[in-house]
Formats: sequence, structure tokens, C-alpha cells
Amino acid sequence: MAEAGRTRLASALIANGSLSSQWLPAYTNVPRHLFVPDRIWPGHADGVRQGRAVDRRTDPAAWWGAVYSDVPLTTQWDNGKHQGDEPGVMPSTSNSMPTMVFSMLGAVPLTPGARVAEIGTGTGWTSALLCERVGAANVVTIEVDEESAAGAQRRLARVGYAPLTVVGDGAEGYPQGAPYDVVMATCSVGDVPHAWVEQSTVGGVILAPWGPDYGGEALVRLTVAADGTASGPFLSSSAFMRLRQQRAVRPDSSAYLSAPWPADGERGASALSPEALGPWSVMFAIGVQVPGVFPLVERYDDGTYTLWIHDTAVTSWATADWEPDRTEYETVQSGPRRLWDEVGAAWRWWEDQGRPGFERFGLTVTPTGQTVWLDTPDRPVPVRRASRRAYSTSPNSKRGRRGCALRAEGASRD
Ligand SMILES: C[S@@+](CC[C@H](N)C(=O)[O-])C[C@H]1O[C@@H](n2cnc3c(N)ncnc32)[C@H](O)[C@@H]1O
Repeated sequence: MAEAGRTRLASALIANGSLSSQWLPAYTNVPRHLFVPDRIWPGHADGVRQGRAVDRRTDPAAWWGAVYSDVPLTTQWDNGKHQGDEPGVMPSTSNSMPTMVFSMLGAVPLTPGARVAEIGTGTGWTSALLCERVGAANVVTIEVDEESAAGAQRRLARVGYAPLTVVGDGAEGYPQGAPYDVVMATCSVGDVPHAWVEQSTVGGVILAPWGPDYGGEALVRLTVAADGTASGPFLSSSAFMRLRQQRAVRPDSSAYLSAPWPADGERGASALSPEALGPWSVMFAIGVQVPGVFPLVERYDDGTYTLWIHDTAVTSWATADWEPDRTEYETVQSGPRRLWDEVGAAWRWWEDQGRPGFERFGLTVTPTGQTVWLDTPDRPVPVRRASRRAYSTSPNSKRGRRGCALRAEGASRD
């Protein structure tokens, strides 16, 4: 069963371009199943929410099937606090989607002998692949979760690898092992820690999933310069769990309402469809321009939905109702920030630029901050703060609208 599954998955990864001939020996020598715990929550390629746990001891066929599928496998929820077979609220450790793992490995210059720091050891599978390619003595892997780090170390030892496994905050890197030719993060960031730049060689490469608060995320590959900056292009879409210390606070919509919806909101109408804002790359373009803002979608049984937009300061919100066959959509905005207007202006900028995909964007990181640019580093993406109004309210009531569950969009691939 394992052999056939492994071969089938290898063929799929070769066919989609993620597994190169350079990495095929590592794929063969470091079987994924040796790094997957008995109890997992397999992801779905189409982003459908995970179901109940699959346990190797009670359902080996499902377990092997998941391990040799191109899906991420969640191995821990809610920082280990969640118990039981149902999924928890937030995946906190996983064995990443194979396409993602090999796309990342193939995107960095990992010749034998290169020194590598991996941020986010997880199950240890990527660490083992790195060891196989550059030698375990050249790999430092950092994991914030003690239990995950211990499990990974055990699995790595079982296949004969002993990279330096550090338990700690990967945002600080590991200066004792520096300088690194490659720093590779397998958890996403909204701010690239400057420690990664400082601990890299000049000409070294930092590869990380990067995404704004709003959503949308892509791998960015930065090359480190002698002046303490790092710059480079976004490569392709990704969807990783966040570096723990950079997780966004996303209060429920009810936290924003001073009374039942529409509360004190100002009604309006917009020709911009909420549907236009949904694609992952559009969310990215909006999020870069409108930091500190995030969406939630409230779906109804008849197929319509409300797009809620919130600021992380919990002062402002907006809703836009999507219904089929409309040319105008009802909007409501409340608070000092007119969030529908801000997001709409960001969408129009994206459209004016010819609807750029991830690969036209890039990022520059300096000791004092970071800038996202379009096409070339001298064209920074505008960061918007639309009209602010004088306002006073304490929007803290717990009354939600129509009582539906709210959820963020975005399919995990880590
Ligand atoms: C997608 S998983 C990594 C998958 C892993 N590379 C593998 O092959 O199994 C992301 C990991 O990043 C870890 N992480 C989150 N924040 C971190 C931090 N500040 N420092 C180090 N690791 C962190 C999580 O605990 C989680 O194990």
C-alpha cells in the first residue's frame, strides 16, 4: 500500500512541477509516512474544512490514503489544548502539503553543504528532506511548540538524522548557528523578522510565506544585500499557519455592534460586487493597501451572503450583501474608518494596474520596516487610510446578526 501510494504521489508532484529530478532522491529516501503521527486531520485540496481525526490504529487504509495524498495533515489544534476527534478552532501544527514542501525546497539554492535555518519544525519531514540534501550538520530547525519539537526530533533520529533542533521563537532565528545561506519559514509572517536578514550571508536567501491581515498569502523569496536589507519577488500562492507571535486578533462581528445590525451604520449601495474581492490574490492586493483590516463571510441557506469587513482596532465595520443577478449591492458602514470605501479604493487600484497576480509583487525588508512593491522596488504599493470620521461609541454588545456562524475564507496548504 505504501509503495504504490508513494509512487503515485511522486508522479503527481512531478506532473505539477513541484518535484524536480534534483529532489526526487530526497523524496525517495525520506518517506512521508515516517513523519506522520498516528492521529491526523487530513486537509482537503479544495479547502473544505477538515472532518474528524483519522487514526492509523483504527482506520489504517484512510491513514495511508491521506499520507500519500497531496494534502496537508493537521497534527495539532489550538496549541495542543484541543482534545477529541473533532477539529479544533485553529490548526497549530501540521505536516505540510507535499506540493508546497517541494515547491519551497525547489525555490531556494540548496546545494550540498549549504547552511540552512528552518523556522517551524512541525513533524520534522521538511527538516529530514533538508538533512538529506545539505547534510544534517548544516541544518538548524526551530520550533516554538515543545511537544512538536520533541516528536520531530524522535522521528528524525529514527531515520538517522540529528539536525540541531531548537525550541524557541523562530522570529529570533538562532544566531549561534549563523550565518545561513538559506532561511526557510514553514509558517507564515506578516512582518519578516529582521533577525533573519542579520543572520544570513550576503547573497543568502530567505523564503517565507507572507500575507497581510486581510488574507491572501504568497511565498516571497528575498536575497540579502550587504547593507542589511533583503529584497525579492513573490513567487506563488500559499496558505500557511501563522508564526505564533504574529497571529492576528480577529474578534467576532458581534464585538463591533453597539446594537443589533445595522446599529448606527450608514446605509449605501455599491456597484462593486463582494464576489470581486474573493480571490486569494485580490485579497492579498487589498490587504497590502489596507493593513489592520480583515473580512468574515456570513453565509445564508439560500446561497446569498454578507461580507463583513472589520478593523483590528475594533472601531469600524462594514457589510456588503451579495445576492445573484444584482448590479448594486447594499452596504452599511460604521465607525471612524469607512472600510467598504477603503477596500473599494484598493480594489480599483488593483484593477488599474492590470489586475496583477502575486508574481508581479515584491517585498523589501530593511532594519526599520518592510515595503511591498509592484514590478520593481521603486514602485511601492500605496498604503491607504481612507476618510476618518470623528466618532464615539463603545461597540461591544454581543448581539450578532441573524445568528449565523462567521468564518474566514482561505484554503490551508501547510
Ligand atoms: C506548517 S507547520 C510546519 C510543517 C513542517 N515544516 C513539517 O515538515 O512538518 C508550522 C509550524 O510552525 C510552528 N511555529 C509557529 N510559530 C513559530 C515560531 N514563532 N517559531 C518556531 N516555530 C513556529 C508551528 O508550531 C508549526 O509546527
